[in-house]
Amino acid sequence: MSSNLPSPNPYAQQLETIGFLATGIAHDFSNLLTSIVGQTSLALATLPQDNVARSHIEKAMQAAEFAAELTRQLLTYANSEDAPDELIDLNQLVNDNISLLNTILLKSVSLQLDLANSLPPIEARRAHIQQIVMNLLINAAESIEDGKGIVLLRTGLETICDNEKRYSFVNGRSPVPGPCIYLQITDTGCGMTRQQLQKIFSPFYTTKPTGRGLGLSTVLDLVGFYQGGITVESQTDLGTTFCVFLPLPSQLGLMPKQTLLH
Ligand SMILES: Nc1ncnc2c1ncn2[C@@H]1O[C@H](COP(=O)(O)OP(=O)(O)O)[C@@H](O)[C@H]1O
Ligand SMILES: [Mg+2]
Repeated sequence: MSSNLPSPNPYAQQLETIGFLATGIAHDFSNLLTSIVGQTSLALATLPQDNVARSHIEKAMQAAEFAAELTRQLLTYANSEDAPDELIDLNQLVNDNISLLNTILLKSVSLQLDLANSLPPIEARRAHIQQIVMNLLINAAESIEDGKGIVLLRTGLETICDNEKRYSFVNGRSPVPGPCIYLQITDTGCGMTRQQLQKIFSPFYTTKPTGRGLGLSTVLDLVGFYQGGITVESQTDLGTTFCVFLPLPSQLGLMPKQTLLH
């Protein structure tokens, strides 16, 4: 898994430390959330049906369950270093995650899917691909500040040529040439300035009051691990498009894999 190639991610050292910290915190969180879900369901069971506090407690429970699911993902991700690669149908994985995401999307944000009819599988660890999809979708949903807008998720197949010039790959690193699966996520949210765009992949960079600034640095790390590429285009007040390219298994092995930092 490790290679002598330099990592495509310039924030390697920071990410490595964060990886260790995150695993410890995620374990503690998981226990706390189990307790919160348990206690709130006990409280609900004792409240009469017409009690006005019920809907508040139900919402708190939903949020805690969602947080527990995210924590499980984080742990899977942290523990997945030894997990085997498997053949993954990206469309299927997207569908599985949509139901999870719909629990946090505001009803006024419309999530639209444009999935390719049939996609060849990619070879990867499920938790890694899930992490990429979730992080990009959550950011897209969060960018729609007034709660009204569209998030469009596309999948497809594209052949990347040597020295591909059509795209501006982040860090100037294009995927291994050849057929790639792509995952494109477009939102009609707040968009970003050029100055912002230069910082978004840096760990801890966030513009959100409760943000952690780790979503995109993780995505960049994972995409590099699979010898893929990522592009981003954005316009203030109009929206943003991220596109992740992942080479097909037939292309992998042509180059050694990058080192994963977590
Ligand atoms: N789809 C998007 N639209 C607008 N801004 C975005 C989008 N995705 C990411 N960003 C910007 O990049 C920053 C870093 O994102 P991320 O690493 O996921 O951390 P976080 O979401 O915790 O802030 C965000 O705080 C935001 O400023
Ligand atoms: Mg984020």
